[in-house]
Amino acid sequence: MLADVIDCLACPHCGENLSISASTVRCATGHSFDIARQGYVSLLPGDAHTGTADTTAMVAARETFLAAGHYAEISRAVADATERALVDAGPGCVIDVGSGTGYYLAAVLERLPERVGIALDISKYALRRAARAHPHIGAVAGDVWRRLPVRTGSVAAVLDVFAPRNAAEFRRVLAPDGVLIVVIPDRNHLARLVETLDLLDVDVGKEARLATQLAQGFERVAVYRVEGPLELTHAEVDAAVAMGPSAHHVDPADIDVRVAALAEPVRTRLSVTVAVYKSAR
Ligand SMILES: C[S@@+](CC[C@H](N)C(=O)[O-])C[C@H]1O[C@@H](n2cnc3c(N)ncnc32)[C@H](O)[C@@H]1O
Ligand SMILES: [Zn+2]
Repeated sequence: MLADVIDCLACPHCGENLSISASTVRCATGHSFDIARQGYVSLLPGDAHTGTADTTAMVAARETFLAAGHYAEISRAVADATERALVDAGPGCVIDVGSGTGYYLAAVLERLPERVGIALDISKYALRRAARAHPHIGAVAGDVWRRLPVRTGSVAAVLDVFAPRNAAEFRRVLAPDGVLIVVIPDRNHLARLVETLDLLDVDVGKEARLATQLAQGFERVAVYRVEGPLELTHAEVDAAVAMGPSAHHVDPADIDVRVAALAEPVRTRLSVTVAVYKSAR
């Protein structure tokens, strides 16, 4: 619930602390934000650009795909890494940036019953799901490229799973002993699908770019690999395409024809890195 995380949130207009009364979130200066019927609050700045938000179809596809358990090993690895990294850490919430449906944040909170979590995304369709993903999640609309509506130093762990990253803001919101957990795919991830369906390739420069982005201000303290075979039905391949970056660019009818021509189950691979960073002193 939003009340669980209100002490970690900050007004997007003036940076003041926030409080909740009835179905409104307010700051001391007088800015107020309505809590949506579905349980999330928008703390987006007034001039936010929401063009990169996942659409309702993308979110529905992601939910279907994740519910089938194909990324369960990734969520286990994220929960393991977070639990281990926070063993001796002080108080603070967990924030999942670009949280989507809240699948990974819910897995982390299952392990850490004393922590609460902010699901932050720019897609209201994603937040409607995230608000229900776990009782200790507060779902917030925000833009990763702007000042996050989060109090400085109030966060024990930032999760970033296949989502955009803002290193300077992650550093600002983290407590001094806080951790950043990043999941990125490599070139083998879903490789056969990418080749045969002519999807947008996983950016092979991603890992190098992540290192550059985080070189100043963060040091990597642990890294885990999640790899293995993945067998998908045609419907699951459709969902994987519909939830990914190609969904904005490909014609679903064209994809259907290509998917139908593949032998079922479609065999591909899971191949991602879970990396843990701490703020460099
Ligand atoms: C590839 S999805 C990953 C979702 C989730 N982490 C998962 O793995 O299931 C990327 C997410 O980032 C969100 N997003 C895109 N641009 C954003 C922005 N500027 N600020 C916050 N979230 C953004 C999208 O709406 C989407 O939910
Ligand atoms: Zn304010």
